Amino acid sequence: MSKQISVVLVGIGGYGHTYLKNLFNEGNESAFVIGVVDVAPERSDYYEEIKDRNIPIYHSLEDFYQDHQADLVIICTPIHLHKSQSCLAMENGSNVLCEKPATANPKDLQEMIATRDRTGKKLAIGFNLSFTDPVQELKSDILAGKFGKAKRMKTLVLWPRNADYFNRSGWAGKKYSPEGEMIFDSVANNATAHFLHHLLYLSGDSIETSAEIDQLSAELYRANPIETFDTCAVHLRTKNEVEIIYLATHAVEEEHQQCIHWNLKMQQ
Ligand SMILES: NC(=O)c1ccc[n+]([C@@H]2O[C@H](COP(=O)([O-])OP(=O)(O)OC[C@H]3O[C@@H](n4cnc5c(N)ncnc54)[C@H](O)[C@@H]3O)[C@@H](O)[C@H]2O)c1
Repeated sequence: MSKQISVVLVGIGGYGHTYLKNLFNEGNESAFVIGVVDVAPERSDYYEEIKDRNIPIYHSLEDFYQDHQADLVIICTPIHLHKSQSCLAMENGSNVLCEKPATANPKDLQEMIATRDRTGKKLAIGFNLSFTDPVQELKSDILAGKFGKAKRMKTLVLWPRNADYFNRSGWAGKKYSPEGEMIFDSVANNATAHFLHHLLYLSGDSIETSAEIDQLSAELYRANPIETFDTCAVHLRTKNEVEIIYLATHAVEEEHQQCIHWNLKMQQ
């Protein structure tokens, strides 16, 4: 059996539960949890199990590194913490899987990339759905020219989110953190960002690259009492001349539970 990698999970509530479920799964032989970090660990559904497994719990990643090293840091915290925690992890010799979006601040993104390049560590962003078999197979078929060249890609995402969703955490639907860091939590950069990512990824010229945006216009709306927007109509053109239309909303009735339509127009 190959070496098990050591993982520290930062953010063990919310979506962190999904990571813990998989890491604690009996079938997982590739990684083990060397520690967890959370400012309020007792709120996690896995708190008792983490204690039963004698996994050390820390309130900050700095404190974790006082005692341990880790092969991989998984960052599953609010958006405005991603840059500082990712850079700290890479500076301490760990590879990073940071949840999407990388950050809302373009300058912070450059710092994350520069830190990755300087430290030689891996930095992955959790657009996990683009790496599922159906999306990978579709991209391979597009690159192989099975449908001709992509002209236009369009997605409609109807993903109901009620007040409980926006009230679950202090950063939900916010523009800035109390310290002034950019969050811009919205239907475009958070919950349904996967589907915008698919469109850019599928338009990319190689299996490893996404298309770059050349021009973009958008209409933004909100039905919920939030600072950002829960509904958007985005029209963009990529540098490799694909037109992308991304229509997404959280402001729909429950019967539209996660309804997603795709439409690809190809030039034969
Ligand atoms: N890939 C996916 O499908 C997917 C799905 C859901 C959420 N996410 C992403 O996961 C991230 C977290 O989202 P969420 O909905 O779980 O948020 P959340 O607010 O529900 O949970 C965040 C967790 O981080 C902890 N935390 C807050 N500040 C911290 C700090 N300074 N240090 C350590 N821990 C801290 C909180 O106590 C909480 O346990 C976001 O980037 C979100 O976009 C990804």
